Amino acid sequence: MNIEKLKQDPRMPKHIAFIIDGNGRWAKLRGQPRSVGHKFGADNVKRQIEAVRDLGIKNLSIYCFSSENWKRPQKEVDYLMSLFENMMDEYRQEYIDKDVKIIFSGDFNDERLPKVVREKAKKLSEDSAKKTEFILNLCINYGGRQEILKAVNEIVFENVKSVDSKIFERHLYTADMLPLDLVIRTSGEQRSSNFMPWQTTYSEWMYPKKLWPSFSKKDLIKCIKSYMKRNRRFGEIKE
Ligand code: IPE
Ligand code: IPE
Ligand code: MG
Repeated sequence: MNIEKLKQDPRMPKHIAFIIDGNGRWAKLRGQPRSVGHKFGADNVKRQIEAVRDLGIKNLSIYCFSSENWKRPQKEVDYLMSLFENMMDEYRQEYIDKDVKIIFSGDFNDERLPKVVREKAKKLSEDSAKKTEFILNLCINYGGRQEILKAVNEIVFENVKSVDSKIFERHLYTADMLPLDLVIRTSGEQRSSNFMPWQTTYSEWMYPKKLWPSFSKKDLIKCIKSYMKRNRRFGEIKE
């Protein structure tokens, strides 16, 4: 199937998420420090954003740093933070004139995040807030349980009598995004690691063995084709 034909297929996912796992192992296999894996991983994030956009998919979420990743050595955390800062500069340059909205999922009031990262994220999301063609959701200091608690606390504050899914979802970071169709976690690990417990209840999951820095556009297309063959029943009976 050629790409143009694939793009026209109604079964194409509309919202994909990457859990970008395996940077450390990728570096270790090459006798390099983990930071090298993260650098190559960040370069690949950029390539995969383009790959997803090329395929005409409108929404992309990327799990970059979990609320549990603070448990890592400070040196590694610091390096990751410097990569996020660079990413924000680079994405501003690349996307500010395009119709791309950049949002950040995660606790950005947390003072463990460097001030410059918090400020750049705020500015980037404000400056791209009105864009409509593509939504890029960068999950940094993100935890699914924390997101649910954040929503609950905001709703309690509003003093509503009873809460339904619609009200609840308005308080999630993904409020403006389409339902999450496909989650791709690289490196072969098969767990969610606190990623979007609410949004993934009916997502399809894929666990390619490739480590994130070597995950290519070809691998992405393979995952998408395999996703399209799945029978998403949502509890119904579908032949
Ligand atoms: C994913 O790669 C990147 C982040 C969690 C920030 P890892 O750093 O988890 O790589 P492995 O799992 O140790 O190989
Ligand atoms: C999940 O990867 C978080 C991100 C990719 C940002 P981890 O490598 O942190 O997950 P665990 O520790 O193996 O569950
Ligand atoms: Mg990992």
